[in-house]
Amino acid sequence: MESFSARLLTWYDRHARVLPWRVGPDDGKRGLRSDPYHVWLSEVMLQQTTVATVGAYFQKFVEIWPTVEDLADATADDVLKAWAGLGYYSRARNLKACADIIVSEHKGLFPKTQVELIKLPSIGDYTSAAIAAIAFGQKTAVVDGNIERVCTRHTENPTPLPKVKEDCRTFMAGVTPEARPGDFVQAMMDLGATICTPKNPTCSLCPINADCKAYAAGTMLNFPVKAPKKKKPTRVGAAFVLTNKDGAVWLTKRPNKGLLGGMTIVPTTGWTASNDGETGANSAPVIADWAQKTGIRHTFTHFHLELEVWLARTDKSPTNGWWSAPNTLLGEALPTLMKKVITSALPNAFRP
Ligand code: ADE
Repeated sequence: MESFSARLLTWYDRHARVLPWRVGPDDGKRGLRSDPYHVWLSEVMLQQTTVATVGAYFQKFVEIWPTVEDLADATADDVLKAWAGLGYYSRARNLKACADIIVSEHKGLFPKTQVELIKLPSIGDYTSAAIAAIAFGQKTAVVDGNIERVCTRHTENPTPLPKVKEDCRTFMAGVTPEARPGDFVQAMMDLGATICTPKNPTCSLCPINADCKAYAAGTMLNFPVKAPKKKKPTRVGAAFVLTNKDGAVWLTKRPNKGLLGGMTIVPTTGWTASNDGETGANSAPVIADWAQKTGIRHTFTHFHLELEVWLARTDKSPTNGWWSAPNTLLGEALPTLMKKVITSALPNAFRP
């Protein structure tokens, strides 16, 4: 039997997904290399977000900021605005901080080794290994969710997540080839995304099924073993949509640290991951004729949030914020949660 990596790379040569940040296997063989800026940007975006969602955001970012120098020249606010909707906003702030360091301390050039890359903000074990392999052709052990699934099934590894990650790194270090390590890790990712899928793997089409233990035993769906899930609590709070005579909406900014840090919001009561916020019109930031609209539910990593939505008109400005006119609302750094709140109060707010 051919080696694990040879079988996988042959499959990748035929079936690699076409992705906007990717240099495909044919171009790779012609000597084209991925731009490390593109690899970094896409990997940070892909950490908590699906390939389908990331595509448009990636295109937008490289259009506005074609190089890491351009991104370093941007304001953190502009980066947050462009990131709005992708979630996990600390990624956007770290992205900008990382671009600044690459320009000020590395002359605008990405370090080429995992050891150097991992020192940068927002770049951890996974991202440093992925950039080193994909952009610089270094043999590293890359492990993401897709790769965990392929590895644990292949070996029927009974250790639960997240502990099994370490075994997956060892597995990857053992099978990653000297030649084309970047294509190899991307092949593992594509296999996990298209064949070795969570619910309905199409094992008969898999290039590495011949020595897959889970396939032989029919136990694919048992892997990876997950630690028992903690139940997410539900927090409550209230959000207040204030409009003026021009139809502008009153907005404020979250503190830079913490959940939705630095993002733009309508005033809300002080809910957190561990505490409920106040509810009811009496907790509004200004006295007005508040009308209750349909509440919204939103899920964060560690909790569900149920927000009451209140709407009122006023011609007085509260403090610490700004009026955002209808034609500027779409460009604000509003997280998805806030788009839901504003749409509940003002159904046409985001219609062109
Ligand atoms: N998921 C995370 N990174 C990826 C990549 N480089 N290619 C495909 N899927 C991915």
